[in-house]
Formats: sequence, C-alpha cells, structure tokens
Amino acid sequence: MTLQASNNSLNASGLVTLSEPKSAAAEAYRLLRTNVQFGDVAQPLRSLVVTSARPDEGKSSVIANLAVVFAQMDQRVILVDADLRRPTLHQFFGVPNEGGLSSYILKAGGFRDNLTPNGNGKSGYSGSNLPLIQTNVPNLRLMTAGQPPSNPAEILGSATMRELIEGLKQESDIVLFDVPPVLSVTDASILAPHVDGVILVFRAGRTKRDDSQQAKAQLQKVHAHILGAVLSDVKVRGKAVSY
Ligand SMILES: Nc1ncnc2c1ncn2[C@@H]1O[C@H](COP(=O)(O)OP(=O)(O)OP(=O)(O)O)[C@@H](O)[C@H]1O
Ligand SMILES: [Mg+2]
Repeated sequence: MTLQASNNSLNASGLVTLSEPKSAAAEAYRLLRTNVQFGDVAQPLRSLVVTSARPDEGKSSVIANLAVVFAQMDQRVILVDADLRRPTLHQFFGVPNEGGLSSYILKAGGFRDNLTPNGNGKSGYSGSNLPLIQTNVPNLRLMTAGQPPSNPAEILGSATMRELIEGLKQESDIVLFDVPPVLSVTDASILAPHVDGVILVFRAGRTKRDDSQQAKAQLQKVHAHILGAVLSDVKVRGKAVSY
C-alpha cells in the first residue's frame, strides 16, 4: 500500500489540523487517515508506528496531526511518545513531560499488578492506571515519554512494553507510536514488528534516496509491515485551493 499524502505548512504549535482545518495540509492529513483506514489489509489497523530514516524529518508533526484527524472522526485515539530520546509530543498538546512511558515501564512490577481478569476469565489489562493524559482534543489521549531513561531500547523491547501495547489497544480504537529514526538507533526496529503497520516520513528535498531505501530495508528485515510513506514539507507553488 502506498500512502500518498504530503503536507506543506505548519503553524507554530505544529497542529495545523486544529488551527487551520480547511488548509491543504489539514486535508492531506485527512487523506492520510483515509488511506490508513482503507489500506490493503484484511483487518483494521489498530496500532501504528511513525518513523523516518534520519532525525528532523517531520515524524512527530505527522503523528500528532494524524492523531487529531482520527480523533475528529470519533475514534478513540491513544498517542504514545515512544521517542524516549527526543520526546516532543507533550509540546504539541501543551502538557508537561511527566510520568509517562519510561517511568511506567521501569515500574514493571506496577504494570503487572494492574493485570486483572477480564470477562473471559483470562488475564487481561484493566487499563485504569495507565498514565494517559486527556488532551484538549476530544477522544485523544496522550502518553508522554517521561524523563529520558538510560536504556530506551531495552524499555521498548521489554515484555512489559508488549503487554502495554495490548492494553492500550483494549482501551482505544487506534494507538499511534512516535519513535526515533530507523537509521540512528535501534528503537524503531524493536517496536515496529509489534504493531500493525509502520509509516515512514521523508522530508522533501532533504531525505537522501539511499537513506530512504536503507530505512525501508531495515524495517523489512525485522518483518515490520510497512504501509507507505509520507512526504513532509513539500513546497507548493501558488495558493492552496479552498473548497
Ligand atoms: N510539513 C512541514 N513543513 C514545515 N516544517 C515542518 C514540517 N514538518 C515538520 N516541520 C518542522 O521541522 C522540525 C522537525 O519536525 P518534527 O519535530 O516533527 O520532526 P521529527 O522527525 O519528529 O524530529 P526528531 O527526529 O527530532 O524527532 C520542526 O521544527 C517542525 O516545526
Ligand atoms: Mg520527533
């Protein structure tokens, strides 16, 4: 599946889908949402990673806006800042980067204590104690990254993290994970195989062809399901068309 979407402008906070919902950029995010929803998979996609080849390609901007447009469609969205090295999602929504994913996983015993029997008598996750922040966008909850830990890759690769992913899916319609770039550190390769799909963000005029190919190859090597790519920061000549 190829996700064709590009965005060409961002406001100061980066949430163009909120500040300029009629802009071409916001429309591109809605198109991306549609492509994710009606992709070539038999099952609906319930968990996604957004990553890039190198730093600064626009992945946090893409995932934050994608989360907003899913929430605007009455989907229960959980956005997780799994970029434990350069967390920024809290800034998009104006909340402090406290608690969050890193400290939660480090208190692994605490997570396991939250496992409660579900209706089928099997062990399941109650979800009631997840460190989720309700953002100012209805239906959109955020799990911040928390304080940068010394061992981000181990945190993301832990059994507790995999349990958490399942718990988050029970709590929502879609879970979106922001992660570091594929070619910089191993974090994206660790998390990607455990979600339903991966979106790669490439920055127009910046991402090198070799890097985009290497990023794709690396994700394929770990058997991640690559959905497609988003081209960010596309320069559009002339004014955007309004409808
Ligand atoms: N479509 C765009 N048009 C213009 N500027 C953009 C666009 N997307 C992102 N930017 C800007 O580029 C910078 C990096 O964006 P962002 O933080 O989303 O990238 P990132 O890939 O998450 O970076 P990092 O590797 O640090 O996590 C920010 O200053 C952001 O405002
Ligand atoms: Mg980022």
